[in-house]
Amino acid sequence: MRIEVFLTPRQLTEPLEGAAVVIDVLRASSTITTALAHGAKSIQTTLTEKEALELAQKREGLLLGGERQGIKIEGFHLGNSPGEYTKEVVSDRKIIFTTTNGTRALELARESGLAPILIGCFLNLSALVGKLKELETSKLYLFCAGRAGNFSLEDAAFAGLICQELGGQLGDSAKAAVAIYNSFQGDIPRLLRESEHGRYMQEIGFGSDLALCSEVDRYNLVPVLAGTELIPSE
Ligand code: MLT
Repeated sequence: MRIEVFLTPRQLTEPLEGAAVVIDVLRASSTITTALAHGAKSIQTTLTEKEALELAQKREGLLLGGERQGIKIEGFHLGNSPGEYTKEVVSDRKIIFTTTNGTRALELARESGLAPILIGCFLNLSALVGKLKELETSKLYLFCAGRAGNFSLEDAAFAGLICQELGGQLGDSAKAAVAIYNSFQGDIPRLLRESEHGRYMQEIGFGSDLALCSEVDRYNLVPVLAGTELIPSE
């Protein structure tokens, strides 16, 4: 398998062939994985708050979740902390979800024509790697959500960990991602604490989310895009 890592969000000019993983460790990937692991029926992402509100008006019983600048959007039921997406709150519910960078990265992957599109984070590492091995795809693209169009340490490091676990033919950006992951010697809490977004999370009072996003293999579930919705893969 050849693995390419997009270290920053990238508008693609040509369609691609292969599978994709969208990575936003802090926090969209971690929150999506937690919500589905806690029994949410599906998660539909939107780029804008307006779209999310319009969808929620069309159908009753939907939960609205997401953030801007890390803070819950006014009028939404939930923000973007994995800890909010408990079984009691999300079980059997459909969620409409919009975040600053994560849902944008998903949209870029969708536009590229890649399939399947999976969601990855430390919480589902082994399930994700197992699923990618099963796929036997010849090409894999890892989409790091980054931060406001820029590089994010934690997304690059997680991409590096996937590359290390899978092996295969690594492009230069994939090799760089592996080196970044290894520079933290497996200390994921430190990686998240020292990242720019991790520091921002601590500043705005979401420091406890770093622990929730740093646990490896907490869930045996991989979200996959099916049509317009993310659901648990089979
Ligand atoms: C995003 O999509 O930009 C992030 O998940 C932001 C956040 O941590 O809430």
